[in-house]
Amino acid sequence: MPDIANKSLAEKGSARITWAEMQMPVLRSVRERFEEQKPLRGLRIAACLHVTTETANLMLTLQGGGAKVVLCASNPLSTQDDVAAALAVKHKIDVYAIKGVDHDRYYKHINAALDMKPQITMDDGADLVSTLHSQRQQLLKEVIGGTEETTTGVTRLRSMANDKVLNYPIIAINDALTKHLFDNRYGTGQSTIDGILRATNYLLAGSNFVVCGYGWCGRGLAMRARGMGARVIITEIDPLRALEAVMDGFQVMTLKETAPIGDIFCTLTGDISVVRKEHFDVMKDGAIVCNSGHFDVELDLQALRAQAKEVKQIREFIHQFTLKDGRRIYLLAEGRLVNLAAAEGHPASVMDMSFANQALSLEYLANHHTKLSNQVYPVPEQIDKMIARLKLESMNIKIDELTKEQSEYLSSWKAGT
Ligand code: ADE
Repeated sequence: MPDIANKSLAEKGSARITWAEMQMPVLRSVRERFEEQKPLRGLRIAACLHVTTETANLMLTLQGGGAKVVLCASNPLSTQDDVAAALAVKHKIDVYAIKGVDHDRYYKHINAALDMKPQITMDDGADLVSTLHSQRQQLLKEVIGGTEETTTGVTRLRSMANDKVLNYPIIAINDALTKHLFDNRYGTGQSTIDGILRATNYLLAGSNFVVCGYGWCGRGLAMRARGMGARVIITEIDPLRALEAVMDGFQVMTLKETAPIGDIFCTLTGDISVVRKEHFDVMKDGAIVCNSGHFDVELDLQALRAQAKEVKQIREFIHQFTLKDGRRIYLLAEGRLVNLAAAEGHPASVMDMSFANQALSLEYLANHHTKLSNQVYPVPEQIDKMIARLKLESMNIKIDELTKEQSEYLSSWKAGT
């Protein structure tokens, strides 16, 4: 039995899923082939992903390929309730996802998905895999492999593999070039701005916009914030990334230096307590803080709460923290992924490539799992390249081919000065 917020939202969800599908031509072509060939026939797949219109199209692709799928949320605030309803009511998929659930219900949903005894897991952040390995070990014998969508999850799973506790092979979708170069950069860049604007309606032009972390997500956000006219400041701990940010034309400072001058702070580091007491202590009255990293640990909210004499919700996604000295700090989306909590996550056109990687990697796992060991594997290069080609084709863009002479030249060491 699914656990969703409201069945009557199914029609609305269905229409939005169709809108997203329009912009997912690569996944659509995979789905058409899957419906014919049924490469996932009979496989039980438990997916723990953000429940969005894009994820719905991925679920329908897997179902079309012959799999039995269940879906639970990978974040308590990212679920689109109308999508959950459409999948449950119209497509008979067991969905366990309600926007705004507490910690206990979030894990109840993960456990409910695991009850289907999956042969394949799909994760975004590794909560499903870690629950399976720590609390439901008896199910591990059935599992042949899994996929992981995001940077944070891949980092966690690599730690599990290093500690030799990972029990089956995982394909790191995030590491595909057609994933992180586009989804992390252009997807996060746009959707984070979208989330901040929907939450606040703030004028970015002329603001001091602090981006904590210059990985692919931070790069994308910095680029887009600059495009809206903000003065963008980058904070980093990695000297190479910091240098890259400098040469990309951004100001680079320590967080301590930016704290008194920033208007908006957004964390995208994957690490814990990035913005903490020492920073809140010196922020200006009215500073906005938010997070677009996977977990809600990047802002030290315990420290913020401890400094506050009053906490009040003043708009749908804004909590006002009035500090003991009277300054007000505004927290967006409870410190959770602002792009998915206050907006709709990445646009469908970019998720098209991420989720084509997911679908094709599942097919690869179904065919090759016996040859894999309990490690984290990259998406096979041929899949990555094929997705780039299909995406270009869908845009009607043609590219050149190497001539015979050029191919030979590139593989020869003899030609020189
Ligand atoms: N992660 C970021 N954006 C997403 C989306 N639209 N759907 C699923 N997962 C996402």
